[in-house]
Amino acid sequence: MEIRLDGQVALVTGGSRGIGKAIARTLAEAGAQVMITSRKAEACEAAAREIGPNAHFEAGHIGRDEDAERVIEATLDRLGRIDVLVNNAATNPWAGPTIEVDRARWDKTFATNLTAPLFWTQRIWRRWMKENGGSVINIASVGGFATSPILGVYDITKAAMIHMTKQLAAELGPKVRVNALAPGLVKTDFARTLWEDGKGEQVAKAYPLERLGEVEDVAGAALFLAAETGRWITGQTWVLDGGGLCAYRSTA
Ligand SMILES: NC(=O)c1ccc[n+]([C@@H]2O[C@H](COP(=O)([O-])OP(=O)(O)OC[C@H]3O[C@@H](n4cnc5c(N)ncnc54)[C@H](OP(=O)(O)O)[C@@H]3O)[C@@H](O)[C@H]2O)c1
Repeated sequence: MEIRLDGQVALVTGGSRGIGKAIARTLAEAGAQVMITSRKAEACEAAAREIGPNAHFEAGHIGRDEDAERVIEATLDRLGRIDVLVNNAATNPWAGPTIEVDRARWDKTFATNLTAPLFWTQRIWRRWMKENGGSVINIASVGGFATSPILGVYDITKAAMIHMTKQLAAELGPKVRVNALAPGLVKTDFARTLWEDGKGEQVAKAYPLERLGEVEDVAGAALFLAAETGRWITGQTWVLDGGGLCAYRSTA
């Protein structure tokens, strides 16, 4: 079965590299017109050029309301609709125990990873999806289901995103479906400190499928959820981690 999105428009935050770029490419290859956004215009332009004529770009910081408005209005002006929103951009400015975090980095992590996805969704709901329907896909993390000695603050934002996914699914149906993807470790710039210097091989050994994720693993699931294939799925978070969460061994 070929999954198609012809005639549809998708907006992907953080679409200039990593998982977001793979999602943008996959949705574009399925026939969607895809708006890529991230802070750096040159990086967005390069990604759009690489993906081809179905890809477009408008740079913006997801945490700034004026940027959100400009990117969303540019998408509606140039492409006419927004059927799919992928809330993918995120940050992780603090690596250490949660109890030691400073207020500025706590606030920045929440502003980027949780507040921005809510208000991009709200804006697009009001401007298009409330009347016309659509699908929202939040990129969470397996960290939203676990604890970590160094990623606790980031993981708390992802746990909240998983709950926000359920909450918005309950509020926005039947017009709009809201789902999330929770990847395990994927070899991107964002996660470099977790996989470089052989650390990735150690993590992969703990995954039943014995490899780290590839950006395409996440993109394929996003396409399934965005398209007609996902039409009866809402409020769900799909864990994409090679079985890592299942491999936890009880010591009790
Ligand atoms: N990689 C993993 O192992 C992993 C695992 C679980 C979940 N995730 C999640 O997957 C998503 C994508 O991560 P990734 O690994 O693909 O990261 P990445 O390769 O570092 O890409 C991040 C993207 O977000 C953009 N971005 C960052 N801050 C932004 C901001 N404030 N406003 C607008 N755009 C911004 C970046 O572009 P600019 O620099 O141009 O802004 C870039 O396009 C994130 O939500 C992350 O939490 C990743």
